[in-house]
Amino acid sequence: MHFAVIGHPIAHSLSPMLHETWLKAAGLFGCYTMVDVEADALESLVMRLRNRQLDGINVTIPYKTAIIPFLDRLEPAAARAGAVNTVYWDGDELVGANTDGIGFARALATQGTTTTNLLVIGAGGAARGIIPALSGRVTVMNRTDATAQQVATEFGCNSIPWSTVVDLTPYDVVINTTSVGMAPHLEVMPIELTETTALICDIIYRPTPTRLLREATASGLATLDGVLMFVLQAAEAFERFTGQKPDLALGEQVIRKQLE
Ligand code: ATR
Repeated sequence: MHFAVIGHPIAHSLSPMLHETWLKAAGLFGCYTMVDVEADALESLVMRLRNRQLDGINVTIPYKTAIIPFLDRLEPAAARAGAVNTVYWDGDELVGANTDGIGFARALATQGTTTTNLLVIGAGGAARGIIPALSGRVTVMNRTDATAQQVATEFGCNSIPWSTVVDLTPYDVVINTTSVGMAPHLEVMPIELTETTALICDIIYRPTPTRLLREATASGLATLDGVLMFVLQAAEAFERFTGQKPDLALGEQVIRKQLE
């Protein structure tokens, strides 16, 4: 079996290490590589899938939407998000899945927190993957307000204007889906963490914890970092690739050690 993650640039992906750990632990003979694909080479990469030189791929920036026309069918979550992060074979069909949403939802479920009112910061591709997987009343806030309004209309949630001081009292979960705080762009998330008891989540895992989460911890708030979501979205992909459930604890341990 041969799997790969494709993107551009791709040099720092942790997916090969995680999937190869799981393949080995499951006693499966196979490998998982990284392929840096230039924009004009996407079609030939898909040909390698079609002729079974590859048994499945994960897709990252900038191809999560561009890959769609090459596939036979999309899972509902991928169709809703308009983005694919996993491509696998189902019989003779090449299927696109988006496991980001289910990965985040499963990570959130481990926290045992009330999820009645959720604030999603950001309205890009990651938010589009996650929002449909959330249960509860979702409010979106984005730097470009028009995008927040568009996402709110599309997914049937609320939007509030971007603001440097947000009243967090109505929310029991706050989720950063923007790239703010991601290495090497360590901008500061413009959010006041006072007046809240919310669980503060960040889908960024490099660095772990982010500045947002460090500040939340300093304010005595519970936090959820991006590692568990990363591991669980990969686990959902691994199951589609191999038909087997991977060892989640082992996966989380390997990734946390790598990020130390
Ligand atoms: P992804 O697929 O990772 O979500 P994306 O689709 O490019 O990537 O979306 C990036 C998100 O981060 C957007 O919500 C973006 O806000 P805009 O729609 O206003 O661009 C947000 N973002 C990026 N840099 C930001 C910054 N410095 N401050 C606030 N939001 C930022």
